[in-house]
Amino acid sequence: MKVFALFVLGLAGWLAGLPAVQAQAQPQPVDVLHWLTSASERRAANQLSQYLAANGVQWRDAAIPGGGGMAAVKVLKSRVLLGDPPDVAQLIGTTLTDWADVGLVLPLNAVAARQRWAQTLFPTVMELVSYQGDVIAAPLGIHRINTLLYNRRIFTRLGLAPPRSWAEFEILARKLQASGIKPLAWSDEPWQIATVFESVLLGEVGPALYRDLIVQRKSSAWLDPRVERALNRLRWLRAVNGDTPREQPWTDAARQLLLGNVGMMVMGDWAKGELMAWGASPVKDFGCVVVPGTENMHLYSIDTLAMLVNARHREATQEKVAELVSSLPAQLAYNRIKGSVPTHRDIDISSLDSCARDSWDTFADPRSARVPSLAHRMAADESIKDAVAQTLWRFLADARMEPAEAQRRLAAVIRAPSAER
Ligand code: GAL
Repeated sequence: MKVFALFVLGLAGWLAGLPAVQAQAQPQPVDVLHWLTSASERRAANQLSQYLAANGVQWRDAAIPGGGGMAAVKVLKSRVLLGDPPDVAQLIGTTLTDWADVGLVLPLNAVAARQRWAQTLFPTVMELVSYQGDVIAAPLGIHRINTLLYNRRIFTRLGLAPPRSWAEFEILARKLQASGIKPLAWSDEPWQIATVFESVLLGEVGPALYRDLIVQRKSSAWLDPRVERALNRLRWLRAVNGDTPREQPWTDAARQLLLGNVGMMVMGDWAKGELMAWGASPVKDFGCVVVPGTENMHLYSIDTLAMLVNARHREATQEKVAELVSSLPAQLAYNRIKGSVPTHRDIDISSLDSCARDSWDTFADPRSARVPSLAHRMAADESIKDAVAQTLWRFLADARMEPAEAQRRLAAVIRAPSAER
């Protein structure tokens, strides 16, 4: 982060020295960098761009393919270093605060005040988009990471019920195997491994220890025997299909589920959006439940768009973008396609699908635990997230590595938040 900050500080200085350009008379399109490129993501982005167009703002697309935004984040960094930041970027979680630290994120305090975000959005969402007294991003929707999707047609045909515990999952896995169906979709892309792991971890350790591990990032907590159980479960899940695991895009894994080649998939609920974009129905074709052990828990990733400071000085238009995309009508239309749920509280959710209703209800319920995703940048910066994902990848790739060794490595790569700055 330090080297990165130095780089960007240089750039910020350069930006400050630029002559101010007068607001253009002709409306110019806003350049939007994002990673919404799968079928459902693309449709959701189109929905936003149409909504903006209907309100006089043209969206110029700068989409960078790659699940979890791995490539998009790199492209964004290089565009900033080249002095060409986009007007709008899909920046989420702690990545936001990194950029805000170096003055590259336009504060949206006026929009937030006008739209009464503090009153209308969930407090957890407001906390995420607020930093050092400023509001720094426009929220789009809330994803639930601890989601288990299953092929409803297969389950009905075989008389199976979705699992509520790992013991039930094991029985189901054997039954599916006996019918020639692989139990679980799997991909060895590090971010996908991390996505599965954090859900498993939450189920094994519960919200209190999860917060110590992921939010407080207490190194010593990683040596807890319950973490060992989660690592063993991860290894078991990866081996349950019996064949050599491989890296595949999450969309390919979702396709396997829809085709009935696999019975279940653990993935954020954007996979539900994707299945629906392919025409599948959550009533007839697939179903979703929470990952075993995570009832009443919401492991969230909140998608946001940040407005970046750049030489074009498009502040008024950028504020308009923030206002439009975070409005309830835009969010209802967008989230229905994307698989996530609106960031607004006190709304009528009867028009949402059953998975979305459960996600929204759990997020809204003060008695349930809302915990942030590490794999999707809600809890730690890019480098810590990557180090954790790589460590998990290595643990799975090397069958000789004992869980205790993986725990020691995880404890070493997790640095406490206070040590960061
Ligand atoms: C997440 C993002 C989701 C979805 C997913 C797969 O980081 O929050 O909206 O796009 O990556 O690419």
